[in-house]
Amino acid sequence: MEVIIRPDADAAAETALEFVRRLYEKKADPVLGLATGKTPLKLYARLRASGLDFSGTHFFNLDELVGLPDGDPKSFRRFLRDNLLDGLGIQEDRVRLLRGDAPDLEREASDYESAIKEAGGIDLQILGLGRNGHIGFNEPGSSLGSRTRPKTLDRETLADYGPGTPRFSITMGIGTILEARLLLMIATGEGKAEAVRRIAEGPLTSETPGSALQLHPRAHLVVDEAAASRLARADYWRWVWDNKWRVGQ
Ligand code: PGA
Repeated sequence: MEVIIRPDADAAAETALEFVRRLYEKKADPVLGLATGKTPLKLYARLRASGLDFSGTHFFNLDELVGLPDGDPKSFRRFLRDNLLDGLGIQEDRVRLLRGDAPDLEREASDYESAIKEAGGIDLQILGLGRNGHIGFNEPGSSLGSRTRPKTLDRETLADYGPGTPRFSITMGIGTILEARLLLMIATGEGKAEAVRRIAEGPLTSETPGSALQLHPRAHLVVDEAAASRLARADYWRWVWDNKWRVGQ
């Protein structure tokens, strides 16, 4: 895993955008995996303003809350439409977002896995990080080999999402996430510092699902100084960044 420490959340978003730009330099019709949450909003605003051509892009997303109809303001597909996809010049037949209102969630999960394979696999998966170390809705204890499936949310996650949040989700599994060719996690703010320390410097364990990034050959963790504040080896990562000649290597 490469940890990239940037001065603040805006600089972290700029660096994340640079990874996306590099991908589009190599491939006009990539497959992107999206994340919901506050963290990627600065990246999404930049993607909208980037001038990149998204018409050939296939989009998938990490997770969704169960039971929410299309258009529900709490649903993740609504969030992604409002904060990224609408106005991006996408082709609707290339967008496949998880449906938490599917009548058969197990079936939805296996159809989703098939759709990712049919699209050729995910080129770049954007990830956030829960304070408890979750990725997607793979809460602590999730199998590191898990596939897309329904999952019960942790109490801490429910508290972070606020009142009225459904207790159940459908999420890509950790095994599914690890199959993406490049992982781009963004974590910002002091509240994420302990989770960042655990995934970057702690042991590989299902108790910290994000530690699975340690298994991936191209995992990049972009953090701001606040989120990096508990890293014992922060100086090493700053030194690596200062000595790199370009992003994406
Ligand atoms: P956040 O959520 O970006 O809103 O902090 C991250 C997550 O829970 O994965």
